[in-house]
Amino acid sequence: MEKSKQSYLHELVRWGDETKNTLKNSSTSEDVCDYWSNELESWQREVKAFINTEGNEEGFLLLRNDGQQLYNQIKNVINSRQQNNSVGYGQHKLPPLPYDYSALEPYISKEIMELHHNVHHQAYVDGLNKAEKALYDAKNNKEMKHWLREQAFNGSGHNLHTIFWYNMTPNSGKKPIGEIAKRINQDFGSWRSFKDMFTKAAASVEGVGWAVLAWNPRSGRLVIQTFEKHQQFQYADIIPLLVLDVWEHAYYLQYKTDRNAYITNWWNVVNWKDVNNRYVEAKKIIWPLY
Ligand SMILES: [Fe+2]
Repeated sequence: MEKSKQSYLHELVRWGDETKNTLKNSSTSEDVCDYWSNELESWQREVKAFINTEGNEEGFLLLRNDGQQLYNQIKNVINSRQQNNSVGYGQHKLPPLPYDYSALEPYISKEIMELHHNVHHQAYVDGLNKAEKALYDAKNNKEMKHWLREQAFNGSGHNLHTIFWYNMTPNSGKKPIGEIAKRINQDFGSWRSFKDMFTKAAASVEGVGWAVLAWNPRSGRLVIQTFEKHQQFQYADIIPLLVLDVWEHAYYLQYKTDRNAYITNWWNVVNWKDVNNRYVEAKKIIWPLY
């Protein structure tokens, strides 16, 4: 086969790999992602096999057309997903960590981050998808009470962990910035008194739960709340801005029972830029104040 055709076909194989990555990083559901990745792989196998043959023109055009069709179909899948601007029931995905697993060391170890993200958060995503598939499929939603509880437990776990990952960074400025800094001073008196109260709130959680700084559009104020057993003891209609996971899985491997040391060290990795962004967005909601 001519060299130019061979290198073109190699390009196509590389394009297939890139497209599989694009699919993986898109918000497309796992089933759909697997289906199109398999289609791409079987087409790539054909292309690779063809490169090692004499290579007739008809076969070459056929493979090129198949590639073009795959491209159009996958583009539509990804675009329609973005246009809908929603996640279908049972189609949540584990969000990627915005830094390396070892990036928060020495404050939070790589081992903890790997297990926490890959195992614990993934379990919430899987549990939420299972609950939603049962709940929103009319043929299947017989055990309503059970699945609603599963949705609350896993949905809260999924959402809070998603906030938590982005609330942290290896490049923390270590102090609040922007609008949230002003608001913390206004509502809590000072950064010190806020930090002190949040730390005490985190330490007060019995068993499992979260410390949460939230915006309350109903009072037009920041509030500190703990979400103990995160499917219960919630504070409705507030918007979490900064959350700290104090479930044992978040610190035990590194800090054993010393939760206070974990909380103290965690302040070194708070992403105040993210907290400020969340505050600026949350403030756009205007409810009547009561
Ligand atoms: Fe967790």
